[in-house]
Amino acid sequence: MFSLNDLMRVEIHIHSSLNCVLVSLCQNQSWNNQNLSSVPLDLDVRLRKLDLSNNFITQLHAFALPCLEELDLSGNQMDLISEAAFGNLARLEHLNLSRNRLSVSLGSNSKALRSLGGLRSLDISMNGLSNGAADLFRESKSIRSLIIEDNLISEIAPQTFEPLSRLESLNLARNNLAFICDFTLHQVKYLNLSRNLVEFFVTPEDALLYFPILPKTNRLKYLHLQNNLLGALDSEAVMVTEVNSLYQGVVNETILQNNYFHANWRLMPLVYIDLSFNRFGSFPLETLSLLNSLEHLDLQGNDLPHLPLVFLKTLTQIETLNLQDNSLQPCSILSGSLSKNHIDFDYSCTAFGQLKTLKHLNLRENDIKILPPNAFQGTSLISLNLAKNLHMLIHEMALEGVQTTLQSLIISGININSSGLSLPCMPALTEINISNNKLNATLSSLGCSPLKVIDVRNNDFMTLNYSLVEAVSTNLTTVYISGNRFNCCDSRWLTLTSTRCCLKIGIAVHSIM
Ligand SMILES: *[C@@H]1O[C@H](CO)[C@@H](O)[C@H](O)[C@H]1NC(C)=O
Ligand SMILES: *[C@@H]1O[C@H](CO)[C@@H](O)[C@H](O)[C@H]1NC(C)=O
Ligand SMILES: *[C@@H]1O[C@H](CO)[C@@H](O)[C@H](O)[C@H]1NC(C)=O
Ligand SMILES: *[C@@H]1O[C@H](CO)[C@@H](O)[C@H](O)[C@H]1NC(C)=O
Repeated sequence: MFSLNDLMRVEIHIHSSLNCVLVSLCQNQSWNNQNLSSVPLDLDVRLRKLDLSNNFITQLHAFALPCLEELDLSGNQMDLISEAAFGNLARLEHLNLSRNRLSVSLGSNSKALRSLGGLRSLDISMNGLSNGAADLFRESKSIRSLIIEDNLISEIAPQTFEPLSRLESLNLARNNLAFICDFTLHQVKYLNLSRNLVEFFVTPEDALLYFPILPKTNRLKYLHLQNNLLGALDSEAVMVTEVNSLYQGVVNETILQNNYFHANWRLMPLVYIDLSFNRFGSFPLETLSLLNSLEHLDLQGNDLPHLPLVFLKTLTQIETLNLQDNSLQPCSILSGSLSKNHIDFDYSCTAFGQLKTLKHLNLRENDIKILPPNAFQGTSLISLNLAKNLHMLIHEMALEGVQTTLQSLIISGININSSGLSLPCMPALTEINISNNKLNATLSSLGCSPLKVIDVRNNDFMTLNYSLVEAVSTNLTTVYISGNRFNCCDSRWLTLTSTRCCLKIGIAVHSIM
């Protein structure tokens, strides 16, 4: 019998005379967290993967590992990589230099990286880099993924990314970018610009795209722009003026006219955009209408009072909509699509019923006053979060139209009592969260639902309805019940959950007060 180790030895022996291409085994070595102050001298030349992360290496000098494909040097204190350091790492594809001090000897460090022509991914996040960072990757022409997150970059020079014709994923989050001029990213599919100061971008293609302004032919699918200042300029006229003066400074030309401002957005094949925590409160959202391939839109924390009907109508593929922490009021179907004229002039409510493909909707913390009849009729909602709308009245027909599709419903923290809450029979519902309310009676309609998780914490329950618990107990896996004043003399329901479901499915009845 051979052990795995024996087999490995045999394999290595067979190939020992051939070059590393033929070594079929993956050679890894980890020196993670070993208090090393330099690269160990006696490394196996057949190594393909080497982890030297979290040590105290300050300088890097030449070392020869001709088979090495992956090198992790993150979390050291490297400030100097000598120019020849990477000269004998001909096969290196993935290099992690995150959390070092590469800004210190930028000149030498940049030259060192130039010998890595085959690099596919590079992580230089958290290195205190400012605007010269581009020197580090300029020659890495086959790079696909570049992480420059969490540095001090405030400006990106024209054509910086132009030579990186294979770049697909670019992470520039947590820098100080206010705008980006001439941002030619033809191949990029994933762009993270979260936590910067971006108001808009400009690029000088003859057909321009504004916000973010990208080349006309681009492949961008995932765009992360959370925590920026987008939408801060509240009128397009102001934006046009600003962009023009900025642009004139760069190429000495005026490029914009009002009506052309966002015309080319439609050319972005975006499926995912995160615009949470920006300044869209008074921004003309119609602009976003041009992004008509969107499946996921995040507008959390933008002070939005409503979403215009023209905008909703263009979201023909939307599946997930995060609108947490705005101030949107859902329209009732009566004031919605049935009487179009009315809604066109009614800027106070949002007609969710327009979103036929919508599956996941988060309306937490919107200060919704009334959830009117048929508020979501026409959608395909699977999950709905209505938590923390502190004074929300729920009309008994509010969920009409989605009661057969809903699988998860969160109505936590809306200050509601049992006489104010009546829910329809929901035959697909597997999770309900009615925690943090003033409920004292189990909702008998829940008997219709194949519930797996029930959260009734922090209410006024003294007991749970035995026949109801019995009816749903077949699928139940977890019931959260703490923070109620359960009457210990009426605990048949508890015996039931703790024998039938707990023993069978491992139910956790978390705590009883
Ligand atoms: C680089 O290393 C850090 C840990 O130090 C890790 O968080 C990060 O994901 C790594 N980068 C890549 C591209 O794997
Ligand atoms: C984008 O960057 C932000 C800020 O670092 C981070 O929170 C977010 O998770 C990133 N998004 C993705 C999808 O990587
Ligand atoms: C129910 O909602 C509250 C408030 O949103 C949350 O804290 C809690 O974790 C949720 N319960 C479950 C089981 O997810
Ligand atoms: C308990 O639930 C059952 C079935 O859902 C219902 O018929 C009955 O009226 C409920 N009892 C109380 C006291 O609410």
